Amino acid sequence: MGRLGLNDLIKSRVVRPLDAVMPAEMPRNPLFGIRLSALTSTQSTTDLEAIASQFAGVPGGLLPALHAVQHHSSYISKEMIPVLAKLFNITVSEVHGVITFYKDFRTEKPAGPIVQVCRAEACQARGGREVWDKAQLEAQGKAVVVEEVFCLGNCALGPAVSVDGRLLGGVNATSITTVIGDAIAKRVPEDSIDSCGEGVTVYVPRDAVSRAAGADDVALALAAHSGVRVVRNGSWGMLWLEPMIEVVTPSGRVAYGPVLADDVAGLIKSDLLNGGEHALRLGPTLELPWLKRQQRVTFARVGLVDPRSSEDFEANGGITGLRRALSMSPSDVVTEVTDSGLRGRGGAAFPTGIKWRTVLDTPNTTKYIVCNADEGDSGTFADRMLMEGDPFTLLEGMTIAGWAVGASIGYIYVRSEYPEAIEALNKAIAGATSRGWLGDNVLGSGFSFDVHVRVGAGAYICGEETSLLESLEGKRGVVRAKPPLPAIEGLFGKPTVVNNVLSLGTIPAILSDGAAAYAALGMGRSRGTQVFQLAGNIARGGIVETAFGITLGELVNDLGGATDNGRPIRAVQVGGPLGAYLPTSKFDLPMDYEAFAAADAMLGHGGIVVFDDTVNMAAQARFAMEFCAIESCGKCTPCRIGSTRGVELIDKITSGVDRSANIEVLVDLCEVMADASLCAMGGLTPLPVRSALRLFTEDFNT
Ligand SMILES: Cc1cc2nc3c(=O)[nH]c(=O)nc-3n(C[C@H](O)[C@H](O)[C@H](O)COP(=O)(O)O)c2cc1C
Ligand code: SF4
Ligand code: FES
Repeated sequence: MGRLGLNDLIKSRVVRPLDAVMPAEMPRNPLFGIRLSALTSTQSTTDLEAIASQFAGVPGGLLPALHAVQHHSSYISKEMIPVLAKLFNITVSEVHGVITFYKDFRTEKPAGPIVQVCRAEACQARGGREVWDKAQLEAQGKAVVVEEVFCLGNCALGPAVSVDGRLLGGVNATSITTVIGDAIAKRVPEDSIDSCGEGVTVYVPRDAVSRAAGADDVALALAAHSGVRVVRNGSWGMLWLEPMIEVVTPSGRVAYGPVLADDVAGLIKSDLLNGGEHALRLGPTLELPWLKRQQRVTFARVGLVDPRSSEDFEANGGITGLRRALSMSPSDVVTEVTDSGLRGRGGAAFPTGIKWRTVLDTPNTTKYIVCNADEGDSGTFADRMLMEGDPFTLLEGMTIAGWAVGASIGYIYVRSEYPEAIEALNKAIAGATSRGWLGDNVLGSGFSFDVHVRVGAGAYICGEETSLLESLEGKRGVVRAKPPLPAIEGLFGKPTVVNNVLSLGTIPAILSDGAAAYAALGMGRSRGTQVFQLAGNIARGGIVETAFGITLGELVNDLGGATDNGRPIRAVQVGGPLGAYLPTSKFDLPMDYEAFAAADAMLGHGGIVVFDDTVNMAAQARFAMEFCAIESCGKCTPCRIGSTRGVELIDKITSGVDRSANIEVLVDLCEVMADASLCAMGGLTPLPVRSALRLFTEDFNT
């Protein structure tokens, strides 16, 4: 099969002047949170006050108001701060405090388009450090803003960059010059098209990563041919094959990939519409070995369906879980979830049923369901892919949760780095409401449930559940002390279920197929399936959903095909930036929460980042401390001060200053951070540092 580098894909993309595409199609809903800051013209303070005032009566409305002001004016001027303070009946310093907490908000007019360069681990493993260094040099003296970002959700095909919210992948230290030049010249790729046309159905994915790889151009090229019906689906998760298109033949869907717009004419000539032979033909989709090895439960419909079609969703098993739940008592629904053995997929692995029971049993007339879609961990993108590929499932899961615990309002807190997911969710909410699956009297049951999308503003700590709740309330995302648990006093002081996207996205399958079917999968106390994400320097990166118990080595070597550049693997980081680094000698570890804990590691959100033998593990340990220093909420000393001291210590160690004494101090510091931090941000940062020190000691000696 022909395989092209992503730089070729970037180079091959059609570009046209920004002004030609943006104004008419630019989303005016600030909740979309798309960072078009440098693209919009400045408006008067009076106009901006009118825009912000729409949020004055909305609970926690300050953050959406700030997004709206910045969206329409490119920044938040000093003059707007007292205006906002008055509108929200808070002090000027409170408004200022919120603005300065979040990286997204700016108080100076940007010099030009915003180019964000990913500095996080999965991109580092693919050359991201060089891209970041070069980008900063390239931007000097130019009408552009280059800023760091920690993960854009393109972790299998990085280094990732975004230009005013449009994602790119496979950028290298050379092509970043072109990317910045195009941004300044306002040349942007073609915008996406919806499903369209009549004739033979050809699926073309529209998720963020496929779009970054050129899927929109492919969709346009196919739509130009008569007799083709283009359907925009989500990616199946075989990201190295994106854009992967599929033609529907009488014997099923046949896949081709990776396909570029320039390939389309040749494919049509080779009888694509009948599944004809071609160098890019991969074969029947469901027979592809990567998919056949999986057990898809949460991701059962991702790739299969058009995420914007409620009919497609329903025709493929959607809404059966909700129908069954509504026929049961709330308490029985909670029991079903408990019996399934589902544990939270956000990282902490807390049993979902127990959390729901606490909320159900806490008396209050107002309760909330909050979906944590902040997905800030490097190497993770499953939440994004579910929201973009099958958003109705998440809404169904949240509605079931609402029924089970007695909540009538749900919030999805999505990071601003995910504009496609935000758009997909908003479209799905509209679709579900029109079908009677959301809103008043859901499916005629008498139960009412509404879902609102809220957009984060560039703060990793807002993935921590109490910080997220503060942010939803329109405040700085400073972590709350526990107790009280959010299940008892959560959003606006009310009992609140906070669950990850994958946890809630799994609920419909548990309700439709029964707890026993789910609990039958897995090992030990890790029941069901996990949606693993293969990222970094890996040949076949993407999504693998399978039962717990598969080994790390099977995932990385058998499914992932080892490194992308063919060099030997030296380390993998499992569980995001707070997860341990493991050498290949640990590859027989089964993917199981308890097995990982016993190995001083953690599974977290299921992300696996692969590094080759050129990685410097002291540099990775330093990055862990630096990341904590940048993202700390600042509430407690071990994390706020300890992380900065940690960076300094590692610098001393690697430059040979009192090496053994400073290693001892670093070990002590890790102990203090682990034992005395208020939350897992400071508490788990020692995990990657200690693992690097313990398992890759030699890297600290040079
Ligand atoms: C620093 C930090 C970041 C976190 N980021 C996320 C996140 O992005 N998404 C998520 O679901 N959980 C995240 N969590 C875990 C949440 O605090 C919480 O446990 C989770 O949302 C609960 O949902 P679950 O039980 O379904 O996993 C984070 C925790 C910490 C300490
Ligand atoms: S550990 Fe860090 S992020 Fe967590 S509360 Fe303390 S300062 Fe905030
Ligand atoms: S996109 Fe860079 S680490 Fe995820």
